[in-house]
Amino acid sequence: MVCLGNICRSPLAEGILKSKLPNNLFTVDSAGTAAYHIGSMPDKRSIAVAKKHGIDITNLRGRQFEASDFDRFDYIYVMDASNYQNVLKLSRHEGDTQKVNMILNTVYPNKNYDVPDPYYGGSQGFDNVYNMLSEACDQIVTKLTHK
Ligand code: 4NP
Repeated sequence: MVCLGNICRSPLAEGILKSKLPNNLFTVDSAGTAAYHIGSMPDKRSIAVAKKHGIDITNLRGRQFEASDFDRFDYIYVMDASNYQNVLKLSRHEGDTQKVNMILNTVYPNKNYDVPDPYYGGSQGFDNVYNMLSEACDQIVTKLTHK
């Protein structure tokens, strides 16, 4: 799960997906394309909306996406078009590029809709992001567990 800062959207996506998948069968992680928040806890508004749904993301810490993530993961979900461009800049070959998808394309195929960046808004934005990510994660779980 990849966003810009790895403190709002992607840690939430990581927590939601982990909560929906069977334990220990999948490796789920998140990262940001920027270095601003390396080592930081998730934004308190992401922590709060996760908690409201019974998910604890307080143990997550920000890190930056790196090329080796293409080797570590089979699927890389980005939150918006800007994240997509930034991740693709680190792609080394077509195999890397093919691992990357806009997360809402799991719900709205080929539409390339963004998960809006909630950083500068209020808590309503985080509820909205939670709902979008939860729906997308349901699709991802179906894909991963029906192969
Ligand atoms: P995120 O949100 O990409 O969903 O983690 C942001 C967090 C921090 C900043 C921008 C977006 N920032 O500019 O610091």
